[in-house]
Amino acid sequence: MKARLLGVLTISLGLYTPACQRVQRAPPTREALATVADPAEWGAIFAPQYASYAQPDLAVPRERLDEDPRLALLYAGSAYERSLKSTRDHAHALEDVKATARLTPSTKAMCLTCKSASYRGIVGAPPDDAEAEAEFSARLFSDVVAEADAPVACLDCHDPLAMDTERKLRVSRPAFLRATPGAVSAPQGALRSYVCGQCHSEYYARPVVLADGREGSIVEHPTARGARIEDIIAFYDAIAHSDFIHPVSGAPLLKLQHPQYELWSQGPHGASQVSCTHCHMPSTDAGHSHSVAAATAKIETTCGSCHKKRDAKTARADISAIQAGIDARLSSVADQLVEAHAQTGALRARRGDAAALDAQRVLRAAQARWDFIASENSRGFHAPAESTRILDDAARLLSELLLSLAHEGGSP
Ligand code: HEC
Ligand code: HEC
Ligand code: HEC
Ligand code: HEC
Repeated sequence: MKARLLGVLTISLGLYTPACQRVQRAPPTREALATVADPAEWGAIFAPQYASYAQPDLAVPRERLDEDPRLALLYAGSAYERSLKSTRDHAHALEDVKATARLTPSTKAMCLTCKSASYRGIVGAPPDDAEAEAEFSARLFSDVVAEADAPVACLDCHDPLAMDTERKLRVSRPAFLRATPGAVSAPQGALRSYVCGQCHSEYYARPVVLADGREGSIVEHPTARGARIEDIIAFYDAIAHSDFIHPVSGAPLLKLQHPQYELWSQGPHGASQVSCTHCHMPSTDAGHSHSVAAATAKIETTCGSCHKKRDAKTARADISAIQAGIDARLSSVADQLVEAHAQTGALRARRGDAAALDAQRVLRAAQARWDFIASENSRGFHAPAESTRILDDAARLLSELLLSLAHEGGSP
């Protein structure tokens, strides 16, 4: 608690001290950084890493619902029908979550978990303190976000007291530590992907009840049976979890969210221990690049370091070819899904909910497969063969469903 107060104090000083005095202030000690979320304070000691982290990302988030009207139809009944913006770098994470139209006055604190290095300080306890995590989760987002003063930043991935050792990388999010118990003492090579996986992976809100009866929900990863989409769906089926009910078809659907860690682990690079860091934060003369924006802009220094025959031009062409194939499959499965929701809705209207149960089950299985790849955002690059397999399975499930619905006379 004392440490937490000290942290808050340090940050407030950082915020309110006039700039001229700030320059003259002695750099903070590494001990003090253990509770400091503000990356600028870290920059006083680790200047090159802060400089690349803070280098402006000029990307402007695009509203993907406007670009593809099918998305709002497929996510109808969930918060994603209100907004689904493209992402940008870590320094914008807090600003962007505050601005999203998915928030409501009743949004729970959980949504701050992966958006702010202030998370640990607000919880005020180590990641294995389940009671503190539950206590945090019972609060409202609007309440905790007022205490957050940093986006995704240094403290999320680093232990400031171990910066000169092999143990400088650290996983700080409780859900990932529960799902991957070895992460606490993992070698640096594994941590180069674990630190990313703690946020860039599929999760769900697990309801918890506090001793005094208040309710909260904590982040949990659904990978106890494995990380393939079939394992994840089986996990959710077993606990009867769904994220939203589709208003037209009545199907109980899953909303998959940024499963980069899972898909990467099923691709050629994950299989060969080529880490997220190798491609997204490559080593440069000024240390590791700390800007995660636009992997494709770093190709000159990444792909060719291992693939001697892949210069920037070939690498770009290879990536585009993989993505074009996956984009085409994503699009045709989206068409099938839109059609299947409409026809299942027509069947419900004609013959009642009970007659639509089988169709709703298939819709759940097919849309989860599509969403696993659609929400992953590498457009198949992280695991081309697995992405193709998953989308082909979804297409087959939907073709069979549409055929049987046509036999039922489901066509409008
Ligand atoms: C504490 C949570 C957290 C951690 C840890 C984290 N990320 Fe992120 N990452 C985010 C969030 C949130 C965004 C979206 C930010 C936005 O759009 O405002 C993001 C965005 C990104 C993007 C998209 C950039 C763009 O231009 O659209 C990439 C790539 C990325 N992260 C890679 C990584 C890698 C690699 C690691 C590990 C070295 C990592 N992230 C660790 C939360 C995290
Ligand atoms: C072999 C290199 C490589 C590895 C390893 C790798 N990525 Fe990527 N990643 C890419 C490329 C290339 C893209 C596509 C970029 C594009 O479309 O512009 C991408 C896309 C992404 C995106 C979407 C970015 C956006 O602009 O929307 C995120 C997030 C991301 N990767 C995170 C990760 C995480 C987390 C890991 C590890 C679990 C990882 N990547 C491993 C190369 C890699
Ligand atoms: C998303 C996770 C992540 C965040 C956020 C992050 N780092 Fe790093 N940092 C890494 C990774 C990964 C490495 C490479 C470690 C390795 O492979 O040896 C690294 C390495 C470093 C190193 C060792 C020297 C080097 O460049 O390899 C320093 C110092 C450092 N980071 C400082 C910072 C500072 C300062 C911030 C905040 C401004 C920060 N980091 C934010 C992941 C992160
Ligand atoms: C740290 C080393 C490393 C980096 C960096 C790296 N790769 Fe790879 N890549 C591998 C390894 C190892 C394999 C798996 C063995 C194999 O099939 O050659 C692989 C496999 C592949 C494959 C499938 C097999 C093939 O050669 O067609 C493609 C495509 C690929 N990489 C493209 C890229 C691209 C594009 C980048 C940059 C964004 C990149 N890689 C970055 C090491 C790397």
